[in-house]
Amino acid sequence: MIRWPDTRLQTLFGIDHPIVQGGMICNSGAKLAAAVSNAGGLGLIGAGSMRPDLFRDQIRKARGLTSRPFGVNIPLLYPHSPECVGIALEEGVRIVFTSAGSPKKVIGPLKEAGCVVVHVVAHPDLAVKCEQAGCDAVVCEGFEAGGHNGREEITTLVLVPECVRAVSVPVIAAGGIATGAQVAAMLALGAAGVQIGSRFAVTQESSGHAAFKQAVVAAGPGDTHLVLKAHVPVRLLRNAFRDRIAQMEARGAAREELEAELGHGRARRGMLDGDLDEGELEIGQVAGLIDDIPTVGEVMTRLLEDCERAIVRLTGGRADGAPAG
Ligand SMILES: Cc1cc2nc3c(=O)[nH]c(=O)nc-3n(C[C@H](O)[C@H](O)[C@H](O)COP(=O)(O)O)c2cc1C
Repeated sequence: MIRWPDTRLQTLFGIDHPIVQGGMICNSGAKLAAAVSNAGGLGLIGAGSMRPDLFRDQIRKARGLTSRPFGVNIPLLYPHSPECVGIALEEGVRIVFTSAGSPKKVIGPLKEAGCVVVHVVAHPDLAVKCEQAGCDAVVCEGFEAGGHNGREEITTLVLVPECVRAVSVPVIAAGGIATGAQVAAMLALGAAGVQIGSRFAVTQESSGHAAFKQAVVAAGPGDTHLVLKAHVPVRLLRNAFRDRIAQMEARGAAREELEAELGHGRARRGMLDGDLDEGELEIGQVAGLIDDIPTVGEVMTRLLEDCERAIVRLTGGRADGAPAG
């Protein structure tokens, strides 16, 4: 059994292992979140791609699938975001991760209701602002990550220690983590735990289309790129749509032209409907390390065992702190 060097997240969320499943549009419904929570991590229902009524439904469904703590992720950039915050409160959710906006907009009512509030950042200055605004922890998400991304291209390896020295609230490392050795590396950098997206998107319990999951399994380490940097930076798996956007950007296409090409519903088309050519396929650089579509339980077992092996390798002893031999 791993003796985690830092137990702040376990105490904050009431969980066994400091492993958070990131909110992911089109992938993180009740089934995924509940499976991660049942395995001792923290599952999050991602509100981003859900209509408010579906979001409420998924929260209720998760309650029927797990008695362990779970939370929600609410990106703050959508018109329905304030309504989703209200629904989370009405439904008694007490762990709220926000992203893509300022947590200042929503933190007041969330804290008044007794929620643990965590915000996702891609720059240490924003981590400081989150701490000042009253966030209980920050997710520090590096350039490697799947989905929307910071413009500054700060890698997780650099971002995590920058944030650890900038704030005193727990830092949750995200971006480029799919193995237990990578979890151990983040702990070595001072993170209290990790948030994992891509690896959990490619599991049996994720709601992503089977063709999307297979495309990630087939992908290599260099098959994702950040596009739409001047608009809404997003890391996508290579396909016809992504290549077209990259070509347009290379010839200096205007923002309006890019927006017109992007249109609406590209993410749904790619990740829920399985259109591998014309849909948006959001996934991180770790795609190359993802070779199968296991259950969440299998992923968690591998993460824990591999993390323990890595710690033993580094300390020459046992991961629980007892002497070797
Ligand atoms: C398919 C996909 C969708 C995502 N959607 C969201 C989202 O709705 N809100 C959010 O805060 N982050 C989102 N993310 C980011 C994840 O929550 C997580 O921070 C990120 O995936 C971590 O990097 P990794 O993919 O290397 O594990 C998404 C990531 C992926 C892969």
